[in-house]
Amino acid sequence: MTSKKPAKKAEASAAKRKVAPPVLIRGMRDILNPDWAYRDAIYDVARGIAQDYEYERIETPVVEETSLFVRAVGKATDLVEKEMYSFETAGGEKVTLRPEGTAPVGRAYIQHGMLNRPQPVRLWYWSQMYRHDRPQSGRYRQFTQFGCESVGDKSPIVDAQQAFLAWKVLESVGVPAIVHINSIGTPESRANYKNALVAYFRTKKHKLSEEDKKRLLKNPLRLLDSKDPAMDELKQEAPQIVDWLDEESKGHFMQVLEYLDEMGVPYQLDPYLVRGLDYYTKTVFEIFAVSEDPDVSKLALGGGGRYDGLLETIGGNPTPACGFSLGIDRVVNRMKDMNPEFGSKSEPRDVFVAQLGDQGRKKAFVIFEELRAAGIRAACSLSKDAIKSQMELANKRGAKWAIIVGQKEVLDGTAIIRDMDAGTQETVDSKKIVQEIQKKLKA
Ligand code: HAM
Repeated sequence: MTSKKPAKKAEASAAKRKVAPPVLIRGMRDILNPDWAYRDAIYDVARGIAQDYEYERIETPVVEETSLFVRAVGKATDLVEKEMYSFETAGGEKVTLRPEGTAPVGRAYIQHGMLNRPQPVRLWYWSQMYRHDRPQSGRYRQFTQFGCESVGDKSPIVDAQQAFLAWKVLESVGVPAIVHINSIGTPESRANYKNALVAYFRTKKHKLSEEDKKRLLKNPLRLLDSKDPAMDELKQEAPQIVDWLDEESKGHFMQVLEYLDEMGVPYQLDPYLVRGLDYYTKTVFEIFAVSEDPDVSKLALGGGGRYDGLLETIGGNPTPACGFSLGIDRVVNRMKDMNPEFGSKSEPRDVFVAQLGDQGRKKAFVIFEELRAAGIRAACSLSKDAIKSQMELANKRGAKWAIIVGQKEVLDGTAIIRDMDAGTQETVDSKKIVQEIQKKLKA
């Protein structure tokens, strides 16, 4: 009888353990190593460039009123129609997880009266975005964008600067890229072009997919970036937006291209580039990795353009603006393909602090912190006991010196410094360890 009891207990706890383990919501991501090595490298470069060009940092909230995105991005866009994480709060507010950064920056510009500051106001962000896209390689439901927005300046050099900055960040992290650029003019010239496009595609309606037939009705410009292979041929004959641009937009675009030439930004004109968000006017661009592999150069690493009408659409004064954002997760994927070693290298350490016994462990903890605070790259393993395995670890971490503290050293107020290459050892006053190591590092 007594022997059955523990078995029952074990059964009961096994049953308890059978709770399904927690899982990630589809398309959401934990960002783990080695991704952080790449992300940190991009972050450092992006932040440095943004600061050098005098952009100020902004972080907008992760939730905004749903109406902000509906008004700014456009009701008939894929983003608003299909991809927003929208919900009602307990208080009955209709909110949306930030799917992009431009509309929130526009909202913040109005809300904080930035119109009264010297123009343009230049802002940058590095933020998580959420889109209920179909998850696949390079397309996530949670992703990070680095973006710059210049609000309050209508000159074409601003457009060129945005494309330049996007390209410069990629170039600086070793990702060769090319800007695809187009102008979609003012809303008026675009409306005329839309009519011409609809008239053309109506004559080809029988050749359109069901999806494209819907686009023809709702958002005809999107026909130009249809994924249907049959469209490639149909597009060839379609009217091109450049022929419908008003004189002002045409002149503006020519100047943007001249600046890009001057700045040495590699670009290519793309008459079919229209972008998926309704707020754009005049210049639009996307940036792609340069690669022989067609799969690599398919997904844009970033996109941007001018959005002179956005602020007025969401309730501000008419304010010219232009910006871009880079999809950091896609840039990380590209860097990983090009340089898989980068993320797995752990930074070598100059010193390894080894310990023996309980007293030694306590002292090692203190010495490690003194070294760290003095800016010396140190490592230690407080959980390992055998000195042999600690020395192996010291070698692995590339340490030139090991500091060893055992019971005896603690009592004497000393520590041993071992030269890992020569195998020689010396005993020093434990208060002078930092000084001694600094001397050795300088030698
Ligand atoms: P966007 O083209 O929608 O533009 O996104 C910019 C970049 O974010 C894309 O080129 C891509 O690299 C990345 N991205 C977009 N969706 C996903 C996804 N599901 N998974 C991974 N990466 C993604 C904008 O968001 C505009 N706010 C850009 C802008 C700023 N225009 C003016 N200022």
